[in-house]
Amino acid sequence: MEGVIDAHTRALLTRRPGFDWTVTEFVRVVDARLPPRVFRRHCPELDDGVTTPSGVPVALQLLGSDPAALAANAEQARKLGATAIDLNFGCPAKLVNRHDGGASLLRDPQRVHAAVAAVHAAVGSDIPVTAKIRLGFSHRRLALDCAKAAEDGGATQLVVHARTRDEGYRPPAHWEWIGRIRRHLGIPVVANGDIWSLEDYWKARTLSGCRDVMLGRGALADPWLAQRIRHWLTTGETLPTTPWQARGAILAEFAALQRTTLPERVVTSLVKQWLNHMRQRDAEAARRFHAVKRINDLETLLTGLGAAREERARSQPEPA
Ligand SMILES: Cc1cc2nc3c(=O)[nH]c(=O)nc-3n(C[C@H](O)[C@H](O)[C@H](O)COP(=O)(O)O)c2cc1C
Repeated sequence: MEGVIDAHTRALLTRRPGFDWTVTEFVRVVDARLPPRVFRRHCPELDDGVTTPSGVPVALQLLGSDPAALAANAEQARKLGATAIDLNFGCPAKLVNRHDGGASLLRDPQRVHAAVAAVHAAVGSDIPVTAKIRLGFSHRRLALDCAKAAEDGGATQLVVHARTRDEGYRPPAHWEWIGRIRRHLGIPVVANGDIWSLEDYWKARTLSGCRDVMLGRGALADPWLAQRIRHWLTTGETLPTTPWQARGAILAEFAALQRTTLPERVVTSLVKQWLNHMRQRDAEAARRFHAVKRINDLETLLTGLGAAREERARSQPEPA
């Protein structure tokens, strides 16, 4: 997720079991072949086996509209070691759409086809090309055509965010529409949108008929959501609610990782950004968010969260 889930966040979220794969923030492709540093910035894992430290594969996501430029950049990514390319046809951002990227291609299935086919022709015999769509731009009438266009172009998997671009992030996500698409496609379809809890997971699976789901904001709101799902699938047991201690600890670790490369004021706002996602679904996170939202100093913020203490406790060896 652009501006939200970078390599550090991927590393922290995949440390516990649950995720089968992850994807980078989108690399914006306009025309020229981008230099290697752009790919490495979005996907530092390229230099580390293209997995998170726990071994979960990372797909590199491209966003653009020009098939030739997408193909050239996919080829560049492949040369740098990418093991999967994902194409973004879901971004609703006005700036991106104005420049003819993301969800704007959903107005014309042929353009989805052309983009996927060009990237597939460039790298598809070496590495899988996957795609992510919404149900459409301003209506759903082309949802199936766009999905089929991605499949016919050579996509080996399709993630469907169950809303149109104009619906933004407004609930509800129309999971039953993913089922309509899935029934007509031969490739795996992955359900996405508004999966915040184990209950949502099961409902999304039931209504879409998909075996797999993609977690976005839900994984930030509850960093143990993927594990919660995996645990329930394998044991039938429900894990307890994620305690604040665990949330505080992950925020402190996040801050520690980010401050190795970023200025403290940026880290401070990144920590608040993640806490803001947590507070949507957790009363204690909401209380802490209100208590610290005006703090601009990182140490004071972490102290306010009790996060520094949690992190220290976590990193101390267990008493013998
Ligand atoms: C801040 C933000 C950034 C996002 N960036 C990306 C992105 O770079 N690539 C992508 O495929 N989807 C991106 N998304 C969309 C999510 O992947 C996901 O499809 C959407 O949030 C719905 O799923 P959720 O309800 O589980 O979050 C972004 C969403 C948000 C809120």
